[in-house]
Amino acid sequence: MNLLTQEQLNNIRTSVNIVDVVSKYIPLAHKGSNYWGVCPFHSDTNPSLCVSPDKQIFTCFVCHKTGNAFNFIMEFEHVSFQEAVKKVADMGNVKVDINIKSKPSINNNLYKIYEDTNKIYQNNMNTTFGSEAKKYLFDREINDEIIKEFGIGLSIKARDVLVKGLSKKYEMKDLLESGLIIKTESGMIDAYQNRIMFPLWDLEGRIVGYSGRIYDTKEGSKYINSKESKIFKKGELLYNYHRSRDICRELDTVIVMEGFMDVIASYKVGVKNTVAMMGTAVTKYQANLIKRMASNIILLFDGDDAGAKATMRSVDELLELNVTPKVVRLEDNLDPDEYIKKYGKDAFIEKINNPMNIMDFKLSYLKNGKNLTSDVEKASYVNDILHELEHINDDILIELTLKKLSLESGLDVEFLKSKIVKEEKPKEKVTETKKVDIKTTKYEQAEATLLYYMLRSSDAINVYNDYVTNIRIQKYRFLARNILQFYKEFGKIDLAAFLDTLAFNQEALDTVGEIQSLNLKEDMNKDDLIECAKVIQEGNYKDAIKALEEQMSNTDNLEEKVKLSEEIRKLKVRRMKDVK
Ligand code: UTP
Ligand code: MN
Repeated sequence: MNLLTQEQLNNIRTSVNIVDVVSKYIPLAHKGSNYWGVCPFHSDTNPSLCVSPDKQIFTCFVCHKTGNAFNFIMEFEHVSFQEAVKKVADMGNVKVDINIKSKPSINNNLYKIYEDTNKIYQNNMNTTFGSEAKKYLFDREINDEIIKEFGIGLSIKARDVLVKGLSKKYEMKDLLESGLIIKTESGMIDAYQNRIMFPLWDLEGRIVGYSGRIYDTKEGSKYINSKESKIFKKGELLYNYHRSRDICRELDTVIVMEGFMDVIASYKVGVKNTVAMMGTAVTKYQANLIKRMASNIILLFDGDDAGAKATMRSVDELLELNVTPKVVRLEDNLDPDEYIKKYGKDAFIEKINNPMNIMDFKLSYLKNGKNLTSDVEKASYVNDILHELEHINDDILIELTLKKLSLESGLDVEFLKSKIVKEEKPKEKVTETKKVDIKTTKYEQAEATLLYYMLRSSDAINVYNDYVTNIRIQKYRFLARNILQFYKEFGKIDLAAFLDTLAFNQEALDTVGEIQSLNLKEDMNKDDLIECAKVIQEGNYKDAIKALEEQMSNTDNLEEKVKLSEEIRKLKVRRMKDVK
């Protein structure tokens, strides 16, 4: 249950504007009295998420997610209600004393171990043991300021610096789980010896692992990553995410790179809206994160063949999410870091400012190595491109690509177009399943409508109290009861505050989302509200009469029949009076 009172929650919630909170995570556009964005809770490209500054709530009109600032953070960051409250409090500079057990199943000591280790590694870098490593970094134009910003450290050439430094403070099982200490036949030793240590952060900026680079030898793998754990899954994080999130949102552009060294090199020249996936192509998980960071996505991978291949795969992963990225390719097989070193900051920025559309990239990628003077190879190229176009939803892009393909192949645009087999994209699953049930009867429609207004006006609550005896649909009944209780306690209805009371009841929250999605006009006058309540009441009479009639037909007892018939008559009289 809530550890805080409703008043404390109100204080925290009202210390921020939900518009600011949501726009920390996704871009919003101002339209009318509301703000709109692409909903992060289902797969979409249209702005269906409405954020209301008046009511301090958000609602998606497609997947029907709704809630206040706390709910948004809970859903987006997959954190508990308490954690979300704490985050909002931090944003609004409100002091609260909630002891948050973050993600209960996760071993908290791991975070501390990585943090303490980072201090040791950073300190090593500044001792005489670090002079070679420092020289290596300086040669790569990574100065002290950047070293500090990215927490770069050093594991020295020794077997047990961490073992000695950490085993008094932490249990061996935690240290082993961290992967920073390993067990050998000759005892416990440090996993990293003599490598430059780059901390890796999770989405919230906590260190969850390391990548260690060789620097004074050519022996061994270039980078070694610490082992995956409950809190470190390489495919589920993006290097630099926590540091670049705000600036990406501000510029509405995120640049995705392969290596974290590329991110650091860009940072050096002032390009800070970057993240790196750290090897291989973008995973589905990362694609979802990237999609939420900004509307413009630029893939800026290494200039070699592997980079081109990874770009192809990443483009497709993003297209799956209905996101169309842009692509930058670098000459001479250079990676961003090498490109900056060779051509300088301005040339680099020029590159970023002139990305290719994905079809231009695919044209050149698929043409690569093919001899277009051979009809066989030309046909294969044309088929490849047509196949790629099947996944593109942008008609203009299709037309432009066909024009280019026509020039290259000598085939007619119309002919090419007729060869595209458009796959019927299955409609958004979420959209299908989450559709508001079409209320079967006018009574149920009236129940939903009255609830819609009970969430906004005390008039409607009073009308409900005065006119309605029963709500047919169980989840609506539950919601109505909760609204009444809230109203009784606080003397008014405040949707954002009311939602706090449902924070632990997902079904009830979903019901509010369903009701909200009716998207009716804001006010209804009292007479109309009464009309609405009377329809519900009429349904109640109908149900009651039907039940009695059934009882009547089920009994052979004459006396009983007479009694029931009298009850039915009375009900009908009352109905005449109440409903008409
Ligand atoms: P790169 O080989 O492109 O590294 O690998 P880089 O960014 O150019 O690094 P420098 O400039 O040589 O120092 C890209 C990413 O793949 C992962 C790392 O996360 C790296 O950032 N990688 C690479 C490994 O995990 N292990 C390796 O041995 C190499
Ligand atoms: Mn490099």
